[in-house]
Amino acid sequence: MKGKFITFEGIDGAGKSSHVEWLADWLRGQGKIVHITREPGGTPLGERLRQLLLSEPMHLETETLLMFAARREHLAQLIEPALARGEWVVCDRFTDASYAYQGGGRGLDRAKLLTLENWVHGHIQPDLTLLFDLPLEVARERIALTERSLDRFEQEKADFHHRVRLAYLERAATHPGRIQVIQADRSLEDIRKTLEEIITTNCLK
Ligand code: TYD
Repeated sequence: MKGKFITFEGIDGAGKSSHVEWLADWLRGQGKIVHITREPGGTPLGERLRQLLLSEPMHLETETLLMFAARREHLAQLIEPALARGEWVVCDRFTDASYAYQGGGRGLDRAKLLTLENWVHGHIQPDLTLLFDLPLEVARERIALTERSLDRFEQEKADFHHRVRLAYLERAATHPGRIQVIQADRSLEDIRKTLEEIITTNCLK
């Protein structure tokens, strides 16, 4: 059976990262070879770009181009070769994050995002995207509790994150087959059960 490309999305504080590891382990339990990766990042160059993107103030279009540059490298070095070998790729954020953060949060023209998307990966899309959604206040509270220092995106004001959330939900409404919305303000156990059902129905049958 062919490998699948699964992406995780959601506003900062939605708690998706803890589910990435769990899902990869679960899939390994089903006999799959699974790569866990993330964006921006996922390759040595991508991780260096991530450091800049998360800390260095820059023009919105520079930010967007660097996100897509890291993505191009990620697809070439890791994602496409793994899928070609029939392996699975579980990726913490992908292009929907560019539509949500650079498009929704920062107001970049969607047409520019579409141009970059077509250029960088017109030929490939995630098989499934899990969008972790929850009320903004709950996400903000979770971020406020973290002890590490906050990155450039986490430091943005509530209205920025509100626009990011709306843009994500809009993406989900326009891509109902690929994007599944997960209510993230539930117990870990409930969320895992939902994930198991979604993956079984969408990717394993
Ligand atoms: P995130 O995935 O939340 O990592 P962590 O869980 O370690 O904080 O951090 C990545 C940040 O990058 C996140 O705030 C969203 C942002 N981002 C964009 O703005 N555009 C993109 O295209 C991607 C992939 C991420």
